[in-house]
Amino acid sequence: VPNFEVPKEYESRTPPYSKLLEKHEIVKKILGNKPLTLAEKILYSHIADPEESLGSSQGKLENIRGEQYLKLHPDRVAMQDASAQMALLQFMTCGMASTAVPASIHCDHLIVGRDGASDDLTKSISTNKEVFDFLQSCGEKYGIQFWGPGSGIIHQIVLENFSVPGLMMLGTDSHTPNAGGLGAIAIGVGGADAVDALTGTPWELKAPKILGVKLTGQLSGWSSPKDVITKLAGILTVRGGTGYIVEYFGEGVSTLSCTGMATICNMGAEIGATTSTFPYQDAHYRYLAQTNREPIAKVADSVNKQYNFLRADEGAQYDQVVEINLSELEPHVNGPFTPDLSTSISKFGEKAKAENWPSKVSAGLIGSCTNSSYQDMSRAISIIKQAERAGLKPKIPFFVTPGSEQIRATIERDGLINSFEKNGAVVLANACGPCIGQWDRSDVPKTSTESNAIFTSFNRNFRARNDGNRNTMNFLTSPDIVTAMIYSGDMNFNPITDSIKLENGKEFKFEPPVGDELPSSGFTKGRSEFYPEADPTPKPDVKMNVSPDSDRLQLLEPFKPWNGEELSVNVLLKVEGKCTTDHISAAGAWLKYKGHLENISYNTLIGAVNKETGEVNKVYDFNGEAYGIPELMMKWKDEERPWAVVAEHNYGEGSAREHAALSPKYLGGSIILVKSFARIHETNLKKQGMLPLTFADESDYDKLSSGDTLATVNLKEMVALEGNNGGTLTLRVTKKDGSNFDILCKHTMSKDQVEFFKAGSAINYIGNLKRN
Ligand code: F3S
Repeated sequence: VPNFEVPKEYESRTPPYSKLLEKHEIVKKILGNKPLTLAEKILYSHIADPEESLGSSQGKLENIRGEQYLKLHPDRVAMQDASAQMALLQFMTCGMASTAVPASIHCDHLIVGRDGASDDLTKSISTNKEVFDFLQSCGEKYGIQFWGPGSGIIHQIVLENFSVPGLMMLGTDSHTPNAGGLGAIAIGVGGADAVDALTGTPWELKAPKILGVKLTGQLSGWSSPKDVITKLAGILTVRGGTGYIVEYFGEGVSTLSCTGMATICNMGAEIGATTSTFPYQDAHYRYLAQTNREPIAKVADSVNKQYNFLRADEGAQYDQVVEINLSELEPHVNGPFTPDLSTSISKFGEKAKAENWPSKVSAGLIGSCTNSSYQDMSRAISIIKQAERAGLKPKIPFFVTPGSEQIRATIERDGLINSFEKNGAVVLANACGPCIGQWDRSDVPKTSTESNAIFTSFNRNFRARNDGNRNTMNFLTSPDIVTAMIYSGDMNFNPITDSIKLENGKEFKFEPPVGDELPSSGFTKGRSEFYPEADPTPKPDVKMNVSPDSDRLQLLEPFKPWNGEELSVNVLLKVEGKCTTDHISAAGAWLKYKGHLENISYNTLIGAVNKETGEVNKVYDFNGEAYGIPELMMKWKDEERPWAVVAEHNYGEGSAREHAALSPKYLGGSIILVKSFARIHETNLKKQGMLPLTFADESDYDKLSSGDTLATVNLKEMVALEGNNGGTLTLRVTKKDGSNFDILCKHTMSKDQVEFFKAGSAINYIGNLKRN
């Protein structure tokens, strides 16, 4: 394998292609030269020891996919401000002087959207100063790039700077797969997983199955890349991608822009996929070149040409294939409250009426990490310009969130910001804002009990996700449809077929939007203060100040190790229906406590519905006294009464939020027993030394009640077997009246995960290894 070299300043941002190709040769040999998918090529070439991970597969991919645990060495880590605090607090306990791989911190989640970029940013910097200072000093001490508040949203910055075909990275955010739009394998994880990569400890992942999405035809008119994923979410549902990497192929792929592919990969998180990725395209070369990375593009291009490394092998087999014809794809609108409730625009008005959704739209929001590319913005402007020429004024509030300073500065230079503002839009800071509950909305109060509908180009729409109001229905769609909608405000409006009455009585109909894939005069970087040093050198003398009186940051105390005995716990809560990470660890106002485990734990499961009473955030102690869920957890923790939560399907769906695992552990939880888990959350629970179990027979859920005692029968045996990469565990259930019966549960613990359980958490385990 030749040495694929890039100039020095590009080295830390280029995948180690030569090493990857060498590993790939070894993998091919082990697998008897079986044709591989792109995702497998990238993933398997990052395995620490291919012989150990794949050797027992007898060359059969079906023995690997969904079966084998892989120990991987990711190339890089990205962390957003909310999750970085806990990731870094955990990293600090390992006592290392610098990170083992390049890493970056991005201040985006803690910035509120309200009046516009400048005011909002000033206020948010002052409110979060302590946290931003902490993150910045972590960056300086350990040599991590620090992208400060206002620099942009993690995934957009990663796409513009770090994502490269063939790269494998971890990000402490569930939409990390956005980077797959540029041919990377980028996986959303909790902070404890990020610590694996940051400390150079192999990161473990059960080899995903591969779901191929074949794209044929070509998008046209009002249809956009967003519609590929909103349509796919409708087909596969929020659980359909669980355990899979989604890999796109087919002749339709080459018709997409790189940023369009990123939108599609971004929202792969909404179908539960481990990640999504695209094969190397000319569009990737163009995007890399335009974002100042032509030397990297050249190397990627030759790696692909010479070794066919950045696309699937001829004859590669997918575990499932879905086909989407782009030429026939209509715009889709998904929601409310779940991203897989997908309706084509032609049927949406009808559906809204039938479902009794509000007849008016109350606000439109575009941008976010999902849809803030130059192409998205220029298409939105083409709609705005048509309206402007016709004398149409927006009927509802309209907000625009640019994804990065580079995007903002470029659309400012090209006059797009001016057009947005002239036409009534509020341009918010380059940050998450309304996408993550940080929308300080002035038109509809948080406490309003009346339903209202918003249209957004975001990716997630669980209750209270945007403005903290449980009655706001967020309909996810393309920026094009959102923008057209602000001129109608009517849920029944379909811009493809309907017209709007002008003041002069004439009818006006929009033409389909047109945009530019990339800015014709290139990108401009914008304000230099938003750009960090390229390869910061660690400064070990930097002091990390965490005040014991702080209510924002708290140093971590290690969780207690397992005492070697069988567990006996009480069911504290039986959850009904959907229970996402937003239900388990609410965002919005709670984001401010992300670095303070005790304070944030008071949000634990406050969104969960009690199956036995239908109440939200209400549980009952043994004497019948009512408590908020975290309050009873705290009480039982003080009484040294370990507890379990019982729940239904896809528990922990949504984000990579590790507080959803840390807080239950901190509050004395031991077992989470459910019908099924979302992958990231299940892993996060294991990392925090919890025991995540699923019912072998789902109907056992109906047999359990709060207050029941669950006692493990064969935990010691399971531990002695070192998990055995999954298996069963029996629980003896004792009802309040003393009667008892056994139920069979399943677990997916690997050898390492059993070690985490024994040590009390993965960090305890890694810390012990690093210290010895
Ligand atoms: Fe930010 Fe995540 Fe939205 S990165 S923009 S909150 S999906």
